[in-house]
Amino acid sequence: MMTKLETVYALWPELEWIQDVGLRNKTAQTWQLALEKSVLTSEDLNTIPFTLLCGPDLKVSFMAHKRCVVHIAKEAALKMNSFFEKELPVDMDVLIAGAILADVGKLLEYELKEGKAVQGTYGKYLRHPFSGVALAEQCEVPPEVCHIIAAHAGEGDMIKRSVEAYIVHHADFMTFEPFRERLKP
Ligand SMILES: [Fe+2]
Repeated sequence: MMTKLETVYALWPELEWIQDVGLRNKTAQTWQLALEKSVLTSEDLNTIPFTLLCGPDLKVSFMAHKRCVVHIAKEAALKMNSFFEKELPVDMDVLIAGAILADVGKLLEYELKEGKAVQGTYGKYLRHPFSGVALAEQCEVPPEVCHIIAAHAGEGDMIKRSVEAYIVHHADFMTFEPFRERLKP
């Protein structure tokens, strides 16, 4: 039997990329707390589609999408750091923790209806940028990382984003919008 924390690390091997051990632990604990509160299990996360907005035929899993966003964000930030150096520094630990946590609140957006994961009432009132910040704050995740959770989606268009939040926002949307709608030959 895996411990709860081992389950989180099995879901998210990218946690090891966070150099600061304290931040890595807080990030992992936030996911653990979300799994404890969610109707979804870690197995569900590897099987359910990553969004409910792209119809019933979408086969890309929740984890495949979330992990892809973290990988894209990290590679983009490394390129920006190497080309722009001190002109636009990206904090890699903050970026990676924020990318891992951006959608953690989604675990509270689901209810089970006849065995299927559907959007629940809680998620209608509190979209995942809000519930994600609430979960992360309980685990003492610092504000610069909570900012990424808060600002990664459309709500973030209303505020000034950090460079790390910009990167996560675009990594997320470039891997979501073409599934929802794109020009097809
Ligand atoms: Fe999101």
